Amino acid sequence: MSGGSPAPDGDAQRPPHVPFVDRHDPGLPPEEAARRFYEVMRRRRTVRAFSERPVSRATIEQIVRAASTAPSGANKQPWRFVCVSDPALKRRIRLAAEEEERAFYAERANAEWLADLGPLGTDADKAFLEVAPWLVVVFKLMRRDDGGQVYYPAESVGLACGLLLAAAHHAGLATLTHTPSPMAFLSRVLGRPAHERPFLLVPIGYAADDCEVPAAALLRKPLDEIMVVHEPPPADAD
Ligand SMILES: Cc1cc2nc3c(=O)[nH]c(=O)nc-3n(C[C@H](O)[C@H](O)[C@H](O)COP(=O)(O)O)c2cc1C
Repeated sequence: MSGGSPAPDGDAQRPPHVPFVDRHDPGLPPEEAARRFYEVMRRRRTVRAFSERPVSRATIEQIVRAASTAPSGANKQPWRFVCVSDPALKRRIRLAAEEEERAFYAERANAEWLADLGPLGTDADKAFLEVAPWLVVVFKLMRRDDGGQVYYPAESVGLACGLLLAAAHHAGLATLTHTPSPMAFLSRVLGRPAHERPFLLVPIGYAADDCEVPAAALLRKPLDEIMVVHEPPPADAD
């Protein structure tokens, strides 16, 4: 309803709405705000060497809150963030992940996959799973906890994970997007129910002082390769 005009009859059926007043105002022109955000985000790096410096639970809670602001299919929020700082549990996760990863590097990955991983220098050793102060294991809900349907869970959880990484980075922390393959062991070790599927394992902490990142990870496709623009043709100059 707007402009003080009487509500059309159809509005009687409309579910409750509220005015959109809680708006983010960057206080900058959008071009400048977008540029500054890019300058922050381009410094995010996947890190495989963490410091043991602790990170508070309150910090992790805020980061998960930020992730939970993601849009989701029909707002069903089909995600669970299992946050682990217990050293014994981190060790169990590391041992199980390394077992899967040894099989991955020895047999499961095909030659092209291994060649693509070459420049990153990854291997089956996952010490970071014990060193990082927090492991956030993100689960995708295939059903709601009450058994109801969810919609586009992969898209929804993927978006939430993007925000999780951005929020950690914004807080000055480093992350690793880890996908030990296959990930079913995470359900077992963490005792998660069948309607939750492991989606991503995200160690979060400070990067180690002597942390290095693969040079190949810095490469980004140029804008004209990833962006296609359709604008109206320029108006004829008279
Ligand atoms: C879905 C996904 C799975 C990934 N799995 C792993 C992984 O299992 N182990 C790892 O070391 N890095 C993993 N990565 C990190 C990528 O290698 C990394 O994002 C890429 O090299 C670009 O580097 P950057 O994140 O620093 O920009 C994964 C990234 C994504 C998005």
